[in-house]
Amino acid sequence: MKNKSMHALTPSQIVNELDKYIIGQTEAKRAVAIALRNRWRRQQVAENLREEILPNNIILIGPTGVGKTEIARRLAKLAEAPFVKVEASKFTEVGYVGRDVESMIRDLVDYAVNLVKSEMTLEVQEKAERLAEEKILDILIPPLRKNSNLGENTDAEGNNETLQNKKTREWMREKLRSGELDKKLIEFDVNTQTGLGMQVLGPFGIDDLGINFQEIMGNIMPKKKKKRKTAISEARKVIAQEEAQKLIDMEAVQKEAIERVENSGIIFIDEIDKVAGGGKGSGPDVSREGVQRDLLPIVEGSNVNTKYGVVKTDHILFIASGAFHVSKPSDLIPELQGRFPIRVELKSLTQEDFVKILTTPENALLKQYNALLETEGVKLEFTADGIKEIARIASEVNEQVENIGARRLHTILTTLLDEILFNVPDKIPASTVKVNAKFVKQKLDSIVKDRDLSKYIL
Ligand SMILES: Nc1ncnc2c1ncn2[C@@H]1O[C@H](COP(=O)(O)OP(=O)(O)OP(=O)(O)O)[C@@H](O)[C@H]1O
Ligand SMILES: [Mg+2]
Repeated sequence: MKNKSMHALTPSQIVNELDKYIIGQTEAKRAVAIALRNRWRRQQVAENLREEILPNNIILIGPTGVGKTEIARRLAKLAEAPFVKVEASKFTEVGYVGRDVESMIRDLVDYAVNLVKSEMTLEVQEKAERLAEEKILDILIPPLRKNSNLGENTDAEGNNETLQNKKTREWMREKLRSGELDKKLIEFDVNTQTGLGMQVLGPFGIDDLGINFQEIMGNIMPKKKKKRKTAISEARKVIAQEEAQKLIDMEAVQKEAIERVENSGIIFIDEIDKVAGGGKGSGPDVSREGVQRDLLPIVEGSNVNTKYGVVKTDHILFIASGAFHVSKPSDLIPELQGRFPIRVELKSLTQEDFVKILTTPENALLKQYNALLETEGVKLEFTADGIKEIARIASEVNEQVENIGARRLHTILTTLLDEILFNVPDKIPASTVKVNAKFVKQKLDSIVKDRDLSKYIL
């Protein structure tokens, strides 16, 4: 499976991949690359020792908007691993009970089941499409009923009906394949698996019980058939989908999903610093230490019930992140600290970083705006001094108002390009618009100089 080969990226290859999206933060990239490769290494170790090898859970420490979440997200994509992101502070909110910390595992399994299911769907797609074609042909040219009295289906003139039917069917198949019949309407049966069980019971937190009610109900209640009438092209898709569902072994999907969660799942716990330090939050919140105590068994390794089965959390990789302005990692309870042995600090971004962030990543902001306006025939030409000026202003505003890291670039660009974005295409027809330092200054200087104004706008 291709999933396996992706795991085999070496640490330096992982860093190279991350470099395509994230500027700087080399130390953090190295740490996550090692953690990811270590899981692959662990898989190669003999079984008795493998169980002993714990994941290198990581705490990313750094100010807001410098790439913590982005690194974790890209890493998960690279690894094609099941990934969820949770906010630790969520668990302190009113209405949450400590036990709900386990919901992150359930979310992770849900994600993995979908991931595996769509992979397997792809694998059976061809077969499902073939079956769909047969089904449609059955409707268009109903097959002959076997008549046991007459051994052979021979009509009065002695023609072999079976043969005739076959011929017509093949003729129809040709037409079907050529797309000639795509728009023709056809009536067919679809299974309607009523989600009734889930809908009725859902609001009462049935999911928490870790039981797959939908499946149970689905098995008890007879599958209903419903007639549907659509164009043949649509019917093909619907029937193929149904056939694919039938071809997929859901038990195997669930098994594989749980295995992937256990061995390669990644959970990103954001805002861990908000639950560091003892004491209670205000009011009826769950205490911060309480949240840590709830997190602990999951990070340490325990069995969590999900509707797809029991999940062992021992080898899930946890990446926590926080600014740690007020609290420090040492304010976490010792057991939890011990479970996050790797600490990496991310740096504040400099003006030079901003220049690179604007231009080099595959999803760089300037590339995004260029692509947007290109659809209207307008080409934005950012000159080097223009880009430098944008970066300089971003740094300046970050210093003066509040440091929100690379997020500042978003707010600055929307302000800078506001007029262009509004006036294309009515007032600015297809053309090239030059964005140089002069243009940037003109648009932004007055706002930057006025601190109150920049607080609101930039
Ligand atoms: N080093 C970087 N290189 C490229 N883009 C970056 C970098 N840092 C941040 N960004 C961009 O800035 C935005 C915010 O980054 P991200 O979500 O990673 O911040 P964060 O460090 O998780 O902040 P917070 O502590 O507020 O969660 C994203 O759109 C991201 O693409
Ligand atoms: Mg974040």
